[in-house]
Amino acid sequence: MQAQRDHTDVDPGAWIGSITYRSEAVSAPSPAELEGLVARARARNHSLGITGMLLYDGGRYLQTLEGPPAALDHIWSAIQNDPRHAAIDVLSQHIVPTRLFSGWDLQLYRRSKDKTRLSPGVARDMVPLTDHIPATARFALNGDDRRLNALIGDLVGQGWVSDALVTHLLEPTARALGDAWLADDCNELDLTIALSMLQLAGHAIHAGSTAEGIRQRRYSILLATAPGEPHMLGPTLLGDMFTDAGWIVDMAFPDSDEALARQVREQRPDAVDIALSDALPRHHTLSTLRDTIAKSRTASPDELLVVSVGGRLFAEAIATAQSVGADHARKSAAGTSVRLAWLIEQRRRGHLLS
Ligand SMILES: Cc1cc2nc3c(=O)[nH]c(=O)nc-3n(C[C@H](O)[C@H](O)[C@H](O)COP(=O)(O)O)c2cc1C
Repeated sequence: MQAQRDHTDVDPGAWIGSITYRSEAVSAPSPAELEGLVARARARNHSLGITGMLLYDGGRYLQTLEGPPAALDHIWSAIQNDPRHAAIDVLSQHIVPTRLFSGWDLQLYRRSKDKTRLSPGVARDMVPLTDHIPATARFALNGDDRRLNALIGDLVGQGWVSDALVTHLLEPTARALGDAWLADDCNELDLTIALSMLQLAGHAIHAGSTAEGIRQRRYSILLATAPGEPHMLGPTLLGDMFTDAGWIVDMAFPDSDEALARQVREQRPDAVDIALSDALPRHHTLSTLRDTIAKSRTASPDELLVVSVGGRLFAEAIATAQSVGADHARKSAAGTSVRLAWLIEQRRRGHLLS
């Protein structure tokens, strides 16, 4: 039922698209129908370089697909038009540097699956690595960047090579997370954030970082109110969240664009989040915010600064990140640290390639 492919099929240098969605089966498929769907999907995915996993339980589907953006668009439009399911809800969609399911055309999980079975081809000496799956899953589900990095850094320090770590730790952990979702032990948001964290860990491993580099991998953020904005709820709430996720956090309540730019220049954060009021929609501040962002970017010494914005205008999608020249707009605080970590990694990689 499972066909493992050679990892060398996958070009680690190419950026790929990733989409995760959930949907509802129009009528419950029989086991044979489900296997038939997966067999055809797997053949097509293989021919297009698409990998991923499909979870099915009690009338619900959850699928993550990864692959070259054009091929992914092609498959995705077929899936969206498939009459066998409805209520399709996209949970996350982004461009990623590393595949999480590099060896799998389409992995199918169902609740009845024997959870203790290991993937075919797991050699005996790999078993100690699989002992770390529960802790890895727990750290990813808790968004605990610091402990996840410490664990992966230790394993790299013990001499585990990147393919072994991805195949025997990160991929099985992704499956364990799928099981947790099937058992209702976590919700879709937790699952998609946890999968993103595993992809980030995979990226650090593939990038050939040293053990110490992975352990110390920390991002820094300046959480600021927009100059003159008296409502400080957003940065205050985010402060706890980013600190828990292991980031180096600084706060700023500047009274002018220049004061904020000075702080960016001196502290050189990887990212800055500029918050408008969470309570009031401040329409009139949008053009001012655009100027604030432009000045902060100019103040960033290496021009790699990732700029995020938040506040009621963005939560209600009245304004977009693009409309003010930012890279990211918070719809809610949840998951912001993982998304910003992604953007920082993308920015650094783009800088290295240019
Ligand atoms: C929940 C679900 C997941 C699917 N996943 C895939 C997939 O990963 N790859 C794929 O080729 N088809 C998948 N399909 C089937 C496609 O929707 C579609 O039937 C198939 O690609 C043929 O499309 P076409 O007739 O437009 O060429 C899935 C269908 C469902 C209901």
